[in-house]
Amino acid sequence: MAEMTQNQLLELVNSTQTAPGNPRVRQLTQRVVSDLFHTIDELDVTPDEFWAAMDWLGRLGASGQIGLITAGLGFDRLLDIRADEADAKAGLQSGTPRAIEGPLFVAGAPLSQGEVRLDEGEPQGEVFVMEGQALDLQGQPVPHALIDVWHANSQGGYSHFFPGMKPYELRRRIQADAQGRYRFRSYLPPGYAIPPASPTSELFAALGRHGNRPAHIHFLVVAPGMRTLTTQVNLPGDTYLDDDFAFATRDGLIVALERGVDPAGYESLGITAPMVRARFNFVLQPALSESESLPLTRMERVRS
Ligand code: DHB
Ligand code: FE
Repeated sequence: MAEMTQNQLLELVNSTQTAPGNPRVRQLTQRVVSDLFHTIDELDVTPDEFWAAMDWLGRLGASGQIGLITAGLGFDRLLDIRADEADAKAGLQSGTPRAIEGPLFVAGAPLSQGEVRLDEGEPQGEVFVMEGQALDLQGQPVPHALIDVWHANSQGGYSHFFPGMKPYELRRRIQADAQGRYRFRSYLPPGYAIPPASPTSELFAALGRHGNRPAHIHFLVVAPGMRTLTTQVNLPGDTYLDDDFAFATRDGLIVALERGVDPAGYESLGITAPMVRARFNFVLQPALSESESLPLTRMERVRS
């Protein structure tokens, strides 16, 4: 092969083809490779630095933690900001703010009608009920909305990712009733921290950053003809509310906790003493296409 300069090599890498390939993949790859060639040259990246980075990427992929890095480097929130901007530009009313899905969703959680106990009859700490309605932008009920809810356990761990937890622990699907009403009993989750001694924690240590998220509960809300809503609520008072490592907390998603709430009417959830309650309605946008109302999370979408 001929001798060549950096620029000639870049041009060759970006132009070589023997088949049309996928134009969008070609365009994006060319851009990313160009940016990296320039980064390596301008910042005088050494071979040891380059191969250390590739070693880290390999370990990151093998550890299943890519989604932790995308969140921590702001990409997940970036996609939400872009979606908000697109809505605003199109003059669309927003409903409940979207918030990042995070990397820890698991599809296929057990389904209940109207209400459920996420704590599976094993209460911990204060008895907590969250309840509300799925509504449309006009405030009308969205009947039978399907609500996925998931949160961390008392040690900040999520089932299927954290050792020692049962399958689907603290993960449920609730089908709202004809008035769009849902409720569940659980306990208040603490904050979350990235796994120690992992590729993720390695990078955050090198960046001088913490890997903490404030206490939160995740939701995926799906209903025919409505845009699938991925969001989270935050519990008030957490140290990391305004310092979330995933940059995902938002105004309008911090729930108020009412303490000492009368348990009357909550017998079916096994509650007989005063409890903590949060009320929260999910306000859904109308779907503009069939794809927007698919009951799919981010990875299910790209793999389906
Ligand atoms: C991460 C963890 C979460 O629980 C979450 O909601 C978002 C991101 C993470 O580890 O990257
Ligand atoms: Fe989370």
